[in-house]
Amino acid sequence: MKDFLSIIDCPAELLAELLELSASLKSLYKGGGNDLCLSGKTLAMLFEKPSLRTRISFHLAMTDLGGGAIYVKPEDIGGIGKREPVKDMARVFSRYVDGIMARTFEHGTVTELAEFATVPVINALTDWSHPCQAMADVLTIREHCGRIEGVRLAYVGDGNNVARSLAFACGKLGMRLIVASPAGYELDAETIEKVNQMAADSVRQTNEPGEAVAQADVIYTDTWVSMGQEDEKQKRQADFAGFQVNAGLVKAAPADVKIMHCLPAKRGFEITDEVTEMPNSIIYDQSENRLHFQRALLKKLMS
Ligand code: CP
Ligand code: NVA
Repeated sequence: MKDFLSIIDCPAELLAELLELSASLKSLYKGGGNDLCLSGKTLAMLFEKPSLRTRISFHLAMTDLGGGAIYVKPEDIGGIGKREPVKDMARVFSRYVDGIMARTFEHGTVTELAEFATVPVINALTDWSHPCQAMADVLTIREHCGRIEGVRLAYVGDGNNVARSLAFACGKLGMRLIVASPAGYELDAETIEKVNQMAADSVRQTNEPGEAVAQADVIYTDTWVSMGQEDEKQKRQADFAGFQVNAGLVKAAPADVKIMHCLPAKRGFEITDEVTEMPNSIIYDQSENRLHFQRALLKKLMS
Protein backbone atom coordinates (compact mmCIF):
# COMPACT_ATOMS: atom_id res chain seq x y z
CA MET A 1 0.00 0.00 0.00
CA LYS A 2 1.49 3.35 -1.04
CA ASP A 3 -0.69 5.74 1.01
CA PHE A 4 -2.59 5.86 4.31
CA LEU A 5 -5.78 7.78 3.54
CA SER A 6 -8.58 5.87 5.23
CA ILE A 7 -8.88 2.79 7.44
CA ILE A 8 -11.65 1.45 5.21
CA ASP A 9 -9.10 0.99 2.38
CA CYS A 10 -6.59 -0.94 4.54
CA PRO A 11 -6.64 -4.71 4.83
CA ALA A 12 -7.18 -5.84 8.44
CA GLU A 13 -3.83 -7.71 8.28
CA LEU A 14 -2.00 -4.46 7.53
CA LEU A 15 -3.73 -2.69 10.45
CA ALA A 16 -2.78 -5.58 12.75
CA GLU A 17 0.82 -5.44 11.49
CA LEU A 18 0.95 -1.67 12.13
CA LEU A 19 -0.31 -2.19 15.69
CA GLU A 20 2.38 -4.83 16.34
CA LEU A 21 5.05 -2.58 14.88
CA SER A 22 3.78 0.36 16.99
CA ALA A 23 4.06 -1.72 20.15
CA SER A 24 7.53 -3.03 19.32
CA LEU A 25 8.89 0.41 18.36
CA LYS A 26 7.28 1.87 21.50
CA SER A 27 9.14 -0.58 23.72
CA LEU A 28 12.37 -0.11 21.73
CA TYR A 29 12.27 3.67 22.19
CA LYS A 30 11.08 3.48 25.83
CA GLY A 31 14.11 1.25 26.46
CA GLY A 32 16.45 3.88 25.02
CA GLY A 33 16.98 2.16 21.67
CA ASN A 34 16.36 3.51 18.20
CA ASP A 35 15.77 2.45 14.61
CA LEU A 36 17.23 4.89 12.08
CA CYS A 37 15.41 3.36 9.11
CA LEU A 38 14.48 6.79 7.66
CA SER A 39 17.96 8.23 7.74
CA GLY A 40 18.31 10.87 4.99
CA LYS A 41 14.54 10.90 4.29
CA THR A 42 12.20 13.88 4.58
CA LEU A 43 8.49 14.23 5.24
CA ALA A 44 6.59 17.34 4.07
CA MET A 45 3.84 18.22 6.55
CA LEU A 46 1.09 20.31 5.00
CA PHE A 47 -1.44 21.82 7.43
CA GLU A 48 -4.57 23.70 6.34
CA LYS A 49 -5.84 23.62 9.95
CA PRO A 50 -4.20 24.05 13.37
CA SER A 51 -2.60 21.12 15.20
CA LEU A 52 -0.66 20.38 18.36
CA ARG A 53 -0.59 16.57 18.65
CA THR A 54 -0.39 15.64 14.96
CA ARG A 55 2.26 18.19 14.07
CA ILE A 56 4.57 17.51 17.01
CA SER A 57 4.17 13.73 16.98
CA PHE A 58 4.80 13.39 13.23
CA HIS A 59 7.83 15.67 13.44
CA LEU A 60 9.24 13.70 16.36
CA ALA A 61 8.45 10.38 14.73
CA MET A 62 10.49 11.43 11.67
CA THR A 63 13.48 12.65 13.69
CA ASP A 64 13.33 9.54 15.94
CA LEU A 65 13.68 7.39 12.81
CA GLY A 66 16.67 9.41 11.61
CA GLY A 67 14.82 11.57 9.09
CA GLY A 68 13.65 15.17 8.88
CA ALA A 69 10.36 17.04 8.52
CA ILE A 70 9.35 20.29 6.83
CA TYR A 71 6.24 22.14 8.05
CA VAL A 72 4.35 23.74 5.19
CA LYS A 73 1.71 26.40 5.83
CA PRO A 74 -0.73 26.97 2.95
CA GLU A 75 -0.23 30.77 3.24
CA ASP A 76 3.47 30.32 2.48
CA ILE A 77 2.79 28.46 -0.76
CA GLY A 78 -0.13 30.61 -1.90
CA GLY A 79 -2.89 28.30 -0.62
CA ILE A 80 -3.78 24.74 -1.52
CA GLY A 81 -4.97 24.51 -5.11
CA LYS A 82 -4.93 28.32 -5.47
CA ARG A 83 -1.47 29.35 -6.70
CA GLU A 84 -1.19 26.08 -8.59
CA PRO A 85 -3.23 22.89 -9.01
CA VAL A 86 -3.06 20.25 -6.27
CA LYS A 87 -1.74 17.76 -8.83
CA ASP A 88 1.25 19.98 -9.55
CA MET A 89 1.94 20.38 -5.86
CA ALA A 90 1.87 16.58 -5.51
CA ARG A 91 4.31 16.10 -8.41
CA VAL A 92 6.71 18.78 -7.21
CA PHE A 93 6.70 17.60 -3.59
CA SER A 94 7.49 14.12 -4.90
CA ARG A 95 10.71 15.42 -6.52
CA TYR A 96 11.96 16.82 -3.20
CA VAL A 97 10.65 14.71 -0.32
CA ASP A 98 10.06 11.03 0.47
CA GLY A 99 6.57 11.39 1.95
CA ILE A 100 3.72 13.89 2.31
CA MET A 101 1.48 14.24 5.32
CA ALA A 102 -1.54 16.50 4.89
CA ARG A 103 -4.31 17.93 7.08
CA THR A 104 -6.95 19.50 4.87
CA PHE A 105 -10.57 20.56 4.90
CA GLU A 106 -11.71 18.56 1.88
CA HIS A 107 -10.94 14.86 1.86
CA GLY A 108 -10.64 15.14 -1.92
CA THR A 109 -7.45 17.16 -1.47
CA VAL A 110 -5.59 14.26 0.17
CA THR A 111 -6.92 11.76 -2.35
CA GLU A 112 -5.80 14.04 -5.21
CA LEU A 113 -2.37 14.47 -3.62
CA ALA A 114 -2.12 10.68 -3.37
CA GLU A 115 -3.21 10.17 -6.95
CA PHE A 116 -0.50 12.42 -8.38
CA ALA A 117 2.32 11.98 -5.84
CA THR A 118 4.85 9.25 -6.46
CA VAL A 119 5.69 9.21 -2.74
CA PRO A 120 3.41 8.02 0.12
CA VAL A 121 0.64 10.39 1.24
CA ILE A 122 -0.75 10.25 4.79
CA ASN A 123 -4.12 11.68 5.87
CA ALA A 124 -3.47 13.70 9.02
CA LEU A 125 -7.19 14.65 9.34
CA THR A 126 -9.74 15.81 6.83
CA ASP A 127 -13.36 16.86 7.35
CA TRP A 128 -14.21 13.22 6.54
CA SER A 129 -11.76 11.16 8.57
CA HIS A 130 -8.86 10.97 11.01
CA PRO A 131 -7.28 7.53 10.54
CA CYS A 132 -4.01 8.11 12.47
CA GLN A 133 -6.07 9.11 15.50
CA ALA A 134 -8.24 6.00 15.32
CA MET A 135 -5.22 3.69 15.05
CA ALA A 136 -3.52 5.34 18.04
CA ASP A 137 -6.85 4.90 19.86
CA VAL A 138 -6.96 1.18 19.07
CA LEU A 139 -3.38 0.82 20.34
CA THR A 140 -4.45 2.55 23.57
CA ILE A 141 -7.55 0.35 23.92
CA ARG A 142 -5.44 -2.77 23.47
CA GLU A 143 -3.02 -1.63 26.18
CA HIS A 144 -5.76 -0.80 28.69
CA CYS A 145 -8.38 -3.47 27.94
CA GLY A 146 -5.86 -6.23 27.14
CA ARG A 147 -7.65 -7.01 23.86
CA ILE A 148 -9.29 -5.41 20.82
CA GLU A 149 -11.72 -8.11 19.65
CA GLY A 150 -15.12 -7.69 21.28
CA VAL A 151 -14.34 -4.39 23.03
CA ARG A 152 -17.49 -2.26 23.38
CA LEU A 153 -16.98 1.38 22.56
CA ALA A 154 -19.60 4.08 23.25
CA TYR A 155 -18.95 7.27 21.27
CA VAL A 156 -21.05 10.14 22.64
CA GLY A 157 -21.21 13.26 20.49
CA ASP A 158 -20.90 14.43 16.91
CA GLY A 159 -20.93 11.82 14.12
CA ASN A 160 -17.82 13.46 12.68
CA ASN A 161 -14.42 12.59 11.15
CA VAL A 162 -13.17 11.02 14.41
CA ALA A 163 -16.35 8.95 14.87
CA ARG A 164 -16.16 7.77 11.25
CA SER A 165 -12.57 6.56 11.49
CA LEU A 166 -13.37 4.80 14.78
CA ALA A 167 -16.30 3.07 13.06
CA PHE A 168 -14.01 1.86 10.26
CA ALA A 169 -11.47 0.62 12.83
CA CYS A 170 -14.22 -1.23 14.70
CA GLY A 171 -15.41 -2.94 11.52
CA LYS A 172 -11.89 -3.99 10.54
CA LEU A 173 -10.67 -5.07 13.96
CA GLY A 174 -13.69 -6.67 15.64
CA MET A 175 -14.75 -4.00 18.14
CA ARG A 176 -18.37 -2.96 18.64
CA LEU A 177 -19.38 0.69 18.51
CA ILE A 178 -22.52 2.50 19.62
CA VAL A 179 -22.65 6.15 18.53
CA ALA A 180 -24.97 8.41 20.57
CA SER A 181 -25.68 11.73 18.84
CA PRO A 182 -28.48 14.29 18.80
CA ALA A 183 -30.86 14.11 15.86
CA GLY A 184 -29.21 15.64 12.80
CA TYR A 185 -25.65 14.93 13.97
CA GLU A 186 -25.58 11.16 13.52
CA LEU A 187 -22.87 9.27 11.70
CA ASP A 188 -23.94 9.05 8.05
CA ALA A 189 -25.94 6.02 6.97
CA GLU A 190 -23.40 5.09 4.27
CA THR A 191 -20.60 4.71 6.84
CA ILE A 192 -22.80 2.59 9.12
CA GLU A 193 -23.90 0.41 6.22
CA LYS A 194 -20.35 -0.09 4.90
CA VAL A 195 -19.02 -1.03 8.32
CA ASN A 196 -21.85 -3.44 9.05
CA GLN A 197 -21.37 -5.08 5.65
CA MET A 198 -17.73 -5.62 6.59
CA ALA A 199 -18.60 -7.07 10.01
CA ALA A 200 -22.28 -7.56 10.92
CA ASP A 201 -23.65 -5.49 13.82
CA SER A 202 -20.37 -3.71 14.57
CA VAL A 203 -21.86 -0.19 14.55
CA ARG A 204 -25.16 1.07 15.90
CA GLN A 205 -26.53 4.60 16.22
CA THR A 206 -28.75 5.88 19.04
CA ASN A 207 -29.99 9.24 20.35
CA GLU A 208 -29.66 8.06 23.99
CA PRO A 209 -26.25 8.49 25.63
CA GLY A 210 -27.31 6.41 28.67
CA GLU A 211 -28.21 3.48 26.44
CA ALA A 212 -24.89 3.75 24.58
CA VAL A 213 -22.72 3.59 27.70
CA ALA A 214 -24.67 0.96 29.71
CA GLN A 215 -22.36 -1.91 28.71
CA ALA A 216 -19.37 0.04 27.47
CA ASP A 217 -15.71 -0.80 28.07
CA VAL A 218 -14.79 2.65 26.76
CA ILE A 219 -16.63 6.00 26.54
CA TYR A 220 -15.20 8.24 23.81
CA THR A 221 -16.04 11.82 22.93
CA ASP A 222 -14.77 14.65 20.71
CA THR A 223 -15.53 18.34 20.30
CA TRP A 224 -19.04 19.40 19.26
CA VAL A 225 -17.50 22.08 17.01
CA SER A 226 -14.85 20.74 14.64
CA MET A 227 -12.29 22.90 12.88
CA GLY A 228 -14.10 24.80 10.13
CA GLN A 229 -17.48 24.75 11.95
CA GLU A 230 -16.81 27.78 14.17
CA ASP A 231 -19.76 29.70 12.66
CA GLU A 232 -22.15 26.99 13.93
CA LYS A 233 -20.75 27.08 17.46
CA GLN A 234 -23.78 28.50 19.27
CA LYS A 235 -26.30 26.28 17.54
CA ARG A 236 -24.16 23.19 18.05
CA GLN A 237 -23.61 23.90 21.74
CA ALA A 238 -27.39 24.16 22.20
CA ASP A 239 -28.16 21.08 20.07
CA PHE A 240 -25.65 18.90 21.95
CA ALA A 241 -27.01 19.71 25.43
CA GLY A 242 -27.64 16.34 27.08
CA PHE A 243 -24.72 14.70 25.26
CA GLN A 244 -21.98 15.74 27.69
CA VAL A 245 -19.69 13.09 29.11
CA ASN A 246 -20.07 13.96 32.80
CA ALA A 247 -20.00 12.08 36.12
CA GLY A 248 -23.70 11.21 35.80
CA LEU A 249 -23.18 9.54 32.42
CA VAL A 250 -20.06 7.73 33.61
CA LYS A 251 -22.12 6.32 36.54
CA ALA A 252 -24.51 4.78 34.02
CA ALA A 253 -21.57 2.73 32.62
CA PRO A 254 -19.73 -0.25 34.17
CA ALA A 255 -17.44 0.85 37.06
CA ASP A 256 -14.18 0.12 35.20
CA VAL A 257 -15.16 2.02 32.02
CA LYS A 258 -12.26 3.91 30.39
CA ILE A 259 -12.63 7.51 29.20
CA MET A 260 -11.15 8.64 25.88
CA HIS A 261 -11.00 11.93 23.97
CA CYS A 262 -8.82 12.64 20.94
CA LEU A 263 -8.22 16.24 22.17
CA PRO A 264 -8.30 19.20 22.00
CA ALA A 265 -11.15 19.12 24.56
CA LYS A 266 -13.57 21.92 25.37
CA ARG A 267 -13.99 21.19 29.06
CA GLY A 268 -17.48 22.05 30.28
CA PHE A 269 -18.97 21.23 26.88
CA GLU A 270 -18.53 17.70 25.46
CA ILE A 271 -16.68 16.56 28.61
CA THR A 272 -16.40 17.89 32.15
CA ASP A 273 -13.19 18.78 33.89
CA GLU A 274 -14.02 16.14 36.52
CA VAL A 275 -14.30 13.29 34.02
CA THR A 276 -11.18 14.39 32.11
CA GLU A 277 -9.20 14.12 35.36
CA MET A 278 -10.72 10.81 36.58
CA PRO A 279 -8.29 7.93 37.27
CA ASN A 280 -9.96 5.91 34.49
CA SER A 281 -9.29 8.65 31.92
CA ILE A 282 -6.74 7.32 29.40
CA ILE A 283 -6.81 10.51 27.34
CA TYR A 284 -3.11 11.37 27.63
CA ASP A 285 -2.04 7.79 26.84
CA GLN A 286 -4.05 8.25 23.64
CA SER A 287 -2.13 11.43 22.82
CA GLU A 288 1.20 9.72 23.49
CA ASN A 289 0.25 6.80 21.28
CA ARG A 290 -0.09 9.12 18.30
CA LEU A 291 3.72 9.21 18.31
CA HIS A 292 4.08 5.44 18.67
CA PHE A 293 1.58 4.61 15.93
CA GLN A 294 2.99 7.19 13.51
CA ARG A 295 6.57 5.95 13.93
CA ALA A 296 5.32 2.55 12.81
CA LEU A 297 3.32 4.03 9.93
CA LEU A 298 6.26 6.09 8.64
CA LYS A 299 8.60 3.11 8.87
CA LYS A 300 6.13 0.91 6.99
CA LEU A 301 5.39 3.44 4.22
CA MET A 302 8.75 5.19 3.80
CA SER A 303 11.57 2.76 4.64
N1 CP B 1 -6.09 14.88 18.08
C1 CP B 1 -5.47 15.68 17.20
O1 CP B 1 -5.38 15.38 16.01
O2 CP B 1 -4.93 16.81 17.74
P1 CP B 1 -4.32 18.05 16.91
O3 CP B 1 -5.46 18.68 16.18
O4 CP B 1 -3.74 18.94 17.96
O5 CP B 1 -3.29 17.53 15.97
N1 NVA C 1 -13.31 16.56 15.06
C1 NVA C 1 -12.19 17.40 15.39
C2 NVA C 1 -10.97 16.59 15.66
C3 NVA C 1 -9.76 17.35 16.10
C4 NVA C 1 -8.57 16.52 16.29
C5 NVA C 1 -11.94 18.39 14.26
O1 NVA C 1 -12.01 17.99 13.09
O2 NVA C 1 -11.69 19.57 14.53
